Amino acid sequence: MHNQTFMRTYSPRQEALARKAAQQRDNQSFENLASSDLLTQYRIKSEPYYRMVADEIELYEAAYSVRMPIMLKGPTGCGKTRFVEYMAWKLNKPLITVACNEDMTASDLIGRYLLDASGTRWQDGPLAVAARYGAICYLDEVVEARQDTIVAIHTLTDARRMLPLEKKGEVIEAHPDFQLVISYNPGYQSLMKDLKQSTKQRFGALDFDYPEHDIEAEIVAHESGINLDIAKKLVHIAERARNLKGHGLDEGLSTRMLIYAGSLIYKGVQPLAACRVALVRPITDDPDMRDALDSAVTTYF
Ligand SMILES: Nc1ncnc2c1ncn2[C@@H]1O[C@H](COP(=O)(O)OP(=O)(O)O)[C@@H](O)[C@H]1O
Ligand SMILES: [Mg+2]
Repeated sequence: MHNQTFMRTYSPRQEALARKAAQQRDNQSFENLASSDLLTQYRIKSEPYYRMVADEIELYEAAYSVRMPIMLKGPTGCGKTRFVEYMAWKLNKPLITVACNEDMTASDLIGRYLLDASGTRWQDGPLAVAARYGAICYLDEVVEARQDTIVAIHTLTDARRMLPLEKKGEVIEAHPDFQLVISYNPGYQSLMKDLKQSTKQRFGALDFDYPEHDIEAEIVAHESGINLDIAKKLVHIAERARNLKGHGLDEGLSTRMLIYAGSLIYKGVQPLAACRVALVRPITDDPDMRDALDSAVTTYF
């Protein structure tokens, strides 16, 4: 039942290779490539495993058909990124993902002049590439970016659908295929770090959460290779831990963490040790909380 080609998660070597390829991609001058070549690199070649949870696929398709910008809301590790990958594949559109952070500037998104041996040349940033050639641009954890960076997306997310490149003196009219998607974890937003209403109100929103018990177990089994019985035990442990959110835990145990634990068990690690390493130790440093979680683990293993 375990399908190797779908083991996309937590394979450090593959991820390192992918990172290297991405770096090489970024180092290439976008302008030296024909747009078709350029976007080929961002196409998702094989169907990502995505287990539908509710009506999110249908809703997203409808939103894409009117090119509505979409915000995916939900805790970390619950399937937002996997969902966008799947939708990009299903709609057969290239996907350009940007992991947002507070050092990111508007130029990192839009583009800048670079100096090289032949003088200066303009290089489109990921947002400009997506708008120019027609990709889905996914800004992951968008609140991590500073406000002055986030406003750069405003002209693309209203009726104008355009992106001014002020330094270059050019205005990009968004390609008909272009769509903007952002992800956002409402859980750990402080007042200081929240999206402004003027940004929020430009998006339609889909709520994500940890899937319902049986579906989550199915996902964990599929992604880690362990059998459904063990996967269900892991989900039970997670559900107990999620009840402690707000009572000493800031975040619930994510589906991603359960897959980590399952992957260790699949590799032959004892379940108790696997759960300590993958579930309990990462999420809290508090000795009492660790005891409470450890005892939840020993209830099931
Ligand atoms: N509905 C789902 N279908 C398939 N895999 C899922 C689903 N939800 C979560 N996952 C698994 O959980 C992992 C973490 O999800 P991810 O999309 O990276 O979370 P997020 O972007 O919300 O932080 C994924 O790599 C995938 O293996
Ligand atoms: Mg993500």
